Amino acid sequence: MSFEDQLKSLFIEESQIPQEFQLGEEVHQREYLSNGEMKKWDGPVSEVYSPVCFPGPDGLKRKLIGSYPLGTEKEAMEALDAATAAYDNGRGEWPTLSVADRIACVEQFTFKMLEQRDKVIKLIMWEIGKSIADSTKEFDRTVEYINLTIDALKDIDRQSSRFEIEQGIVAQSRRSPLGVVLCMGPFNYPLNETFTTLIPALIMGNTILFKPPKHGTLVHYPLLEAFRDCFPKGVVNTVYGRGANTVPGLMQSGKINVLTLIGSSKVANELKKMHPKVNRLRAILSLDAKNAAIVTKSADLQMAVTEIVLGSLSFNGQRCTALKITFVHKDIVDEFLELLSAEISKLKLGMPWLKGVNITPLAEPQKPEYLKECIEDAQAHGGKVINDHGGATAASLVFPAIVYPVNSQMKLYREEQFGPIIPVVPYESIEEPIQYQIDSVHGQQVSIFSNDAKEISALIDPFVNLVSRVNINSQCQRGPDVFPFTGRKDSAEGTLSVVDALRSFSIRSLVATKLNETNKQLLNEIVNNHDSNFLSTKYIF
Ligand code: G3H
Repeated sequence: MSFEDQLKSLFIEESQIPQEFQLGEEVHQREYLSNGEMKKWDGPVSEVYSPVCFPGPDGLKRKLIGSYPLGTEKEAMEALDAATAAYDNGRGEWPTLSVADRIACVEQFTFKMLEQRDKVIKLIMWEIGKSIADSTKEFDRTVEYINLTIDALKDIDRQSSRFEIEQGIVAQSRRSPLGVVLCMGPFNYPLNETFTTLIPALIMGNTILFKPPKHGTLVHYPLLEAFRDCFPKGVVNTVYGRGANTVPGLMQSGKINVLTLIGSSKVANELKKMHPKVNRLRAILSLDAKNAAIVTKSADLQMAVTEIVLGSLSFNGQRCTALKITFVHKDIVDEFLELLSAEISKLKLGMPWLKGVNITPLAEPQKPEYLKECIEDAQAHGGKVINDHGGATAASLVFPAIVYPVNSQMKLYREEQFGPIIPVVPYESIEEPIQYQIDSVHGQQVSIFSNDAKEISALIDPFVNLVSRVNINSQCQRGPDVFPFTGRKDSAEGTLSVVDALRSFSIRSLVATKLNETNKQLLNEIVNNHDSNFLSTKYIF
């Protein structure tokens, strides 16, 4: 049997899938959340096909798993009106609620979200082909993120629950919301990355317009009623439909105060320019990246290979933090490639419910074709696929390819492949990978593999000013979520960690007065009567 046929045989009949991993009935969503209601939808829909295929008379076909409303600008603008009314220029119920009460709503939401755990995990797996282990991790990590966010907000609130006196002025400062937030997440972490912006924005008192990603849309359906039940009407609203039809009108209205998008810098730039008053728009963006691994002569090669495989191929290389190019010193490159090929040959390919599976079907229908183009382009410029079966494809399943030697003429040198290809560039002088980073439009992270302290320190200093995280002998990654996650150049705007996100979605406001007897008495009266949620010395424990 040819290798391609072996790959094809990994796609099994529906009846052979263990019961516990079957999706059950198709999910045909005919409602959406807007202005505190689950509104019925009888307009056009977008069908959702899983990257998991089933064999049939015409070969392998993606499985239809459901559909969702293909909303238009009309519904998007209604959602915007609802969010604007709920914010009510900062006078709405949600933005004026005490921090303790907002936390209570988010806690209630988390409780209801946990009730939907199994459904959401299965939808992540079926919709984007993420392994069941990683889909489970994505859900649990998101719940943990919400809990950490609540703790961080309590901490910020405790620090703000006091007056400061400076030069005869007494003041209390707190963080206040910014307004209406348009939140758009990516397909590769449809739940986690959407919620790492949505939840901090929400808990800080903003109102939300939330557009689910193109793949990973149904994942959010089981959570809509929880949003409806746990927050005042109009605080969380959904926008379904093609971005090109729904989002421009929202931006052109000038009523979006914060754009938060995890996606491409091209889209982010276009959207920002649509806002009539760019100075009023805050943008929190996590964008393109092409993180490099640099393996020097003094690296522990086996350890470097293990980390590079993880960094390049976890979730099939579909992570913004993935290692997308690897520079290896020419004196050790042959040994490195041998070890890397051996490691790749041990990877388990297959359906996402399999225990220990490493490489799973790709969600984007055009991705296998694009990866093929990248490989052919590299071959036309002198590169080779150097591992057995590298790039072999059956429907949505692509066997990882190591492409070597990669040079500056190839697409793989600059483009973010976002898939299972490891481009390897041999270098002679360490100035070459440094210059690559200087010339790059990206600046998220780098991984340096070396066991020589002097060599590492000579690389840390240039790289911390070129990227936002330098990883030593470890793959690039976002977590732990308490660490700052950001990037330079076209890779990000703003910072997202548990604490930084709370800052990103808020602005400092203060109440100040001259310290005299009358004002002292007034402040005491307000505080003692608990008349204001802002001017208050109450502690949340
Ligand atoms: O897609 C980008 C994600 O933020 C990556 O997160 O490094 O934890 O996989 P991760």
